[in-house]
Amino acid sequence: MRFQGRVAIVTGAGQGIGKEYAARLLREGAQVAIAELSEERGQAGLRDLEPLGDVILVPTDVSDEDSALRCAKTVQDEFGRIDALVNNAALFQDLDKEYHSYEYTQRAFRVNLHGAWLMARAVAPMMVEQHWGLIVNISSVGAYMHPTFDAPFEGVHSWVYNQTKWGIIGLTKYLAGQLGQYNITVNCIAPGVCLSDGALNTLTSERIEELRMMAAMRRTVTPADLAGAVAFFLGDDAAVVTGQVLCVDAGTQMPG
Ligand SMILES: NC(=O)c1ccc[n+]([C@@H]2O[C@H](COP(=O)([O-])OP(=O)(O)OC[C@H]3O[C@@H](n4cnc5c(N)ncnc54)[C@H](O)[C@@H]3O)[C@@H](O)[C@H]2O)c1
Repeated sequence: MRFQGRVAIVTGAGQGIGKEYAARLLREGAQVAIAELSEERGQAGLRDLEPLGDVILVPTDVSDEDSALRCAKTVQDEFGRIDALVNNAALFQDLDKEYHSYEYTQRAFRVNLHGAWLMARAVAPMMVEQHWGLIVNISSVGAYMHPTFDAPFEGVHSWVYNQTKWGIIGLTKYLAGQLGQYNITVNCIAPGVCLSDGALNTLTSERIEELRMMAAMRRTVTPADLAGAVAFFLGDDAAVVTGQVLCVDAGTQMPG
C-alpha cells in the first residue's frame, strides 16, 4: 500500500494501458481520478476500477485548456489534494491512419503533446503549493524511430505520432527543470509495443511482428510491465529521480 493517502490523476484511463496504471495505483492504496474524453470508455473504466478502491471519473479533454483546469479543480475539490499526474491520453487507437492534412497533424500534437503540457500546467500550482508532486509522461518507443518504411510525406500518421512522442521526452526534461525546485519530479516512460486494443487496432499484425523482432528480448510488453515502471517513478524509491526516460520495451531502443 505504498500509495496510501496519495491522489493521482491518470488521463485516458477509460480503457487500455491507462486503465492498468489506474488499477495499479488503486491496488496500492491511491485515490484515483480517471480523466477521460470518451464518456463511454470513461464509464466502462469506472465500472471496472470501482471494486479496486476510491476512484472517480472526471470527463476531460486534455487538449482543451479550460477542460484541463476544470479537471484539476474537480480532483482538488473531491480529494483535497493532487500528488501525481500520469499523462497517458493520446490519439492512438483513435489515430486516423488515412489522414494527411495539416489540420489533423495539429490535432495529434494538441492531444498527444500539448495535452500533457496543459494537464501539467493545470496541476502544477497545487503541487508547488504543497511543495510535492510527481508527474509521469507516456512517450513511446516510436519516439526513437525513423519511419523509413513510409513514402515521404505520405505515411504521415506514424511520422506525426512519433514526433508527438519525441516531443513528450523534451517536455519531460523541460518540466523537470522548471519544477524540480518545488520538489516535483517529472519522468517519462517509453513503452515498446504492447498488445492493447489500441495497438491491435492501429498496427498491422506484420508491423507488430516486425516490432517484436526488433526487441532484443523478442517479445512485446504487457500493461503490467508498464504499470510497474510508472509505479517506480511514483514511489519513494525514485524520490530524487527526475527528467529521466525509461524505455520499457524489451530492449528495442537503448538510448545512452
Ligand atoms: N499500446 C502500445 O503499443 C503503445 C506503445 C507505446 C506507447 N503507447 C502509449 O500509451 C498510451 C496508452 O495506449 P493505449 O494502447 O492504451 O491507447 P488507447 O488509444 O487505447 O487509449 C488512449 C485513451 O486516451 C483517451 N483520450 C484520447 N484523447 C483524449 C483527450 N483529448 N482527452 C482525454 N482522453 C483522451 C482515449 O479515449 C483512450 O481511452 C498512449 O499514450 C499511447 O500513445 C502505447
